[in-house]
Amino acid sequence: MRAEVASPESAHTPRGLADVARRVFTHGPLLTRTLQHYRPYICPFEELLRFVPEGSRVLDIGCGGGLFGALVCATRRPARFVGFDSSRAAIDVARAGADALRAGARSADDASPAAVPEFLRLDVGDPWPDGPFDVVSIIDVVHHIPPEHQRAALQQAAAVLEPGGTFIYKDMTRRGIVRPLMNRVHDLALARQWIHYADLDRVQQWLTDAGLAVVHRAFLPRWWYGHELLVLRKGPAT
Ligand SMILES: C[S@@+](CC[C@H](N)C(=O)[O-])C[C@H]1O[C@@H](n2cnc3c(N)ncnc32)[C@H](O)[C@@H]1O
Repeated sequence: MRAEVASPESAHTPRGLADVARRVFTHGPLLTRTLQHYRPYICPFEELLRFVPEGSRVLDIGCGGGLFGALVCATRRPARFVGFDSSRAAIDVARAGADALRAGARSADDASPAAVPEFLRLDVGDPWPDGPFDVVSIIDVVHHIPPEHQRAALQQAAAVLEPGGTFIYKDMTRRGIVRPLMNRVHDLALARQWIHYADLDRVQQWLTDAGLAVVHRAFLPRWWYGHELLVLRKGPAT
């Protein structure tokens, strides 16, 4: 099936985004595909997408199976979208989704089809793709990074952002008992990993130390998951 580019109005709800995911992720292991299809119901992507300006150049760190890339390309018409992840299996899924988007863009009756996302297998410790980037996103990745490397990864991400650009940090909350526990069980079952939550105040301090200013901070509960969103802007070059 081809993944037609969705209209922004219809797609900016969890259900609309899940429809996009179902059209894009048609290949690969059933469990992986199903997780992508339902992820927009548990992760508030519609809240993240509104911070991605149309026509921007986006870097997505720890892109996983490429869901954010597919959603950005289907709804925000980026000039460029590049995502990287250390998991070969995740990048294979992401590239299959990009192929479906490419086929859909070619068939759409549209003079200016959206960019097709590009996905690379890289660890955060490897050299990163060349910019410039107007948006840098890091979604549910920091809790997978060992605590002693979290600050450096976030500050490197801040450094590759263009002046005037937008930084989107989203991660799972460590506050409370039930929500962090439910996500820990989720990651033990699916990623087989003992995760390390970062404290949102510390993340904010690291990023403001790196020259970014907070424009939005929110706690977004979704079912038994607790999401923390921090959106920051890099000031103009002096
Ligand atoms: C919970 S998934 C989130 C995927 C994607 N950002 C999303 O929201 O759909 C976390 C991802 O971070 C990736 N990851 C963890 N540590 C990484 C590292 N050191 N370098 C690159 N990717 C990493 C994992 O492979 C995994 O795909």
